[in-house]
Amino acid sequence: MSIDPRLAIDGGRPVRESYLVFGSPDLQQPEIDEVMATLKTGWIGTGPKVARFEEEFRRYVGAQHAVALSSCTAGLHLGMIALGVKPGDEVIVPSMTFVATANSVIHVGATPVLVDCEPGTMLIDPKAVEAAITEKTRVIVPVHFAGRPADMTALEAIARPRGIKLLEDAAHAIETVHQGRKVGTIADATAFSFYVTKNVITGEGGMVTTQDEELAAWIKVAGLHGMSKDAWKRYSDQGYKHYEVVFPGFKYNMMDLQASIGLHQLARVEENWEKRRRLWDRYLAAFGDLPLDLPPEIRPGDRHAYHLFIVEVQTEKLRMDRDEVMMALHKENIGTGIHYRAVHVHPYYRETYGYRPGQLPVSDRISERTLSLPFSTRMTEEDIEDTFAAVRKVLEAAAR
Ligand SMILES: Cc1ncc(COP(=O)(O)O)c(C=O)c1O
Repeated sequence: MSIDPRLAIDGGRPVRESYLVFGSPDLQQPEIDEVMATLKTGWIGTGPKVARFEEEFRRYVGAQHAVALSSCTAGLHLGMIALGVKPGDEVIVPSMTFVATANSVIHVGATPVLVDCEPGTMLIDPKAVEAAITEKTRVIVPVHFAGRPADMTALEAIARPRGIKLLEDAAHAIETVHQGRKVGTIADATAFSFYVTKNVITGEGGMVTTQDEELAAWIKVAGLHGMSKDAWKRYSDQGYKHYEVVFPGFKYNMMDLQASIGLHQLARVEENWEKRRRLWDRYLAAFGDLPLDLPPEIRPGDRHAYHLFIVEVQTEKLRMDRDEVMMALHKENIGTGIHYRAVHVHPYYRETYGYRPGQLPVSDRISERTLSLPFSTRMTEEDIEDTFAAVRKVLEAAAR
């Protein structure tokens, strides 16, 4: 059927009849079978499947150690404690991130120092990091935004001579490589996410990788009430064993039910990466003539995880702002996302730390213009064509 040029928001016929959900998880039969099998074993909590998932993830990343947790936020929180962040310390975080990155600093009583990002790549700006360092700085948290690697080489050069630790937020970046080095092997610790919209999902879930054996062992214990190593085996067929509490820890463990999904998702991680890479190229080709700033080229030596396809809407050329474009797409039955409104524009951060809109100009500008298009490997050819058509329809109407 031909496209109705009148926008659905103005009463026209939407580009498609059913709603295309943004970030729809790509779950397949092997995950479903594995979850069923796990349910039937009667052991659904932390157990052998989590241990297998940790080992397979560790091998995929090429790290020395991997510890599965209930979320990436849990990993960031435990990472902060493990790297010695204490009340009164400062941790440098890009404002262009999901709030969990900054919230986890507050959870240990420290102060998040929000810095600006570079235009285009939306990655933490090493010059801004250097300018924000004080005597209280303990950790820098680079975010590999949308799956593109932050400049770890520059950040290492800033952090290492000063004894500052690096904690990578790799929620978007399972497949990411920085200048030949795999994300998850560079910083002192790295936190990954398996949240429902991510490249590998477990529903909720996370993983910390590190090259430091002691740090990994501590995170493992701290993530399960602070109970001594392998406490999860206390009800297994090996007979009851006493555990000892060595730290008042947290309830951050992953379940075998979650790992059952993750194992099969991880098995398809490269196949899915390749699908998104092809879709990325098609998006770049399809939208070149529209009033959008498209993602910049990928630096030679880097590998992008292609987690999110983010455009910036050139609102100065349109009669709609970004939110209106988003709503118009929604009415055309295309779900989109916003990644993100910067951390410093949120009320808690403004009121507690005195941040003002305009203070981090690049992040402010992105906050007002950014829009993430549907990018799930579950999308059919029809879903992709509908997205092309709806984005074109809305932006051409908005440009008039
Ligand atoms: C950049 C970033 N950091 C951290 C998180 C938190 O991940 P989780 O939901 O697994 O705690 C997310 C999740 O959306 C994220 O996008």
